[in-house]
Amino acid sequence: MPCRPTDPDSGRIDLPDIDTAPSLRDLLRSATRSAHDRVDALFGSCDLATPEGYTRFLTAQAAAWRTLAPVLDDGSRARLNGVEADLAALGVPMPPALDDVAKPEAGSLGMSYVLEGSRLGSTILLRDLAERAPELIERAGAYFTASTDLSGWKRLSTILQSQPRNDVSDAAVLADATATFDLFERAFHATARSVAHD
Ligand code: HEM
Repeated sequence: MPCRPTDPDSGRIDLPDIDTAPSLRDLLRSATRSAHDRVDALFGSCDLATPEGYTRFLTAQAAAWRTLAPVLDDGSRARLNGVEADLAALGVPMPPALDDVAKPEAGSLGMSYVLEGSRLGSTILLRDLAERAPELIERAGAYFTASTDLSGWKRLSTILQSQPRNDVSDAAVLADATATFDLFERAFHATARSVAHD
């Protein structure tokens, strides 16, 4: 089995007191910590230095990105294009989009937080992969390469830090962020069968 998910925190998102969190940026980070832990445990269970683990990771990512395709901006679309190119290079079919998921609207701040923030982890993973499996990156590294531009994340962080706090709009941002994390979690599970080797 290329990936060995542990059972991370199975609880729901903890919503901190919205009035005491210093900024929307901090609120998002603390409120989605357990959601991040879950996707980290799932995607991080893949040994990316093996073709099987790498394919498993990319296939799950592809299902999520494809589902979000209608609402992606150019920077995120480049990541979708990257993952499509990588799967083609590996001779692996693109998974279908997930059905019955409610997507955030284009331009959603909560979705952007999750998508842009995920570049932080990708940057670290690419650095590691470049050392451990340079041949995989050479052959099918478009997704990771497209994921390392952190300029959008920096811009967004500044916006989130200075955004005036408002309980109603904050709750909508949080709901979109949570839905986006959930979508990646579901994509990982939904693609388990298509790439199962055992
Ligand atoms: C192998 C899986 C993953 C690993 C190892 C990982 C690792 C990390 C690390 C180390 C950071 C913090 C970087 C820093 O503070 O400089 C981070 C931040 C973040 N990651 Fe991940 N990540 C993974 C998967 C994901 C996925 C699948 C998503 C969403 C689709 C995601 C979304 C985020 C977000 C939104 C942040 C920013 C958190 C904040 O500071 O507010 N990550 N990740």
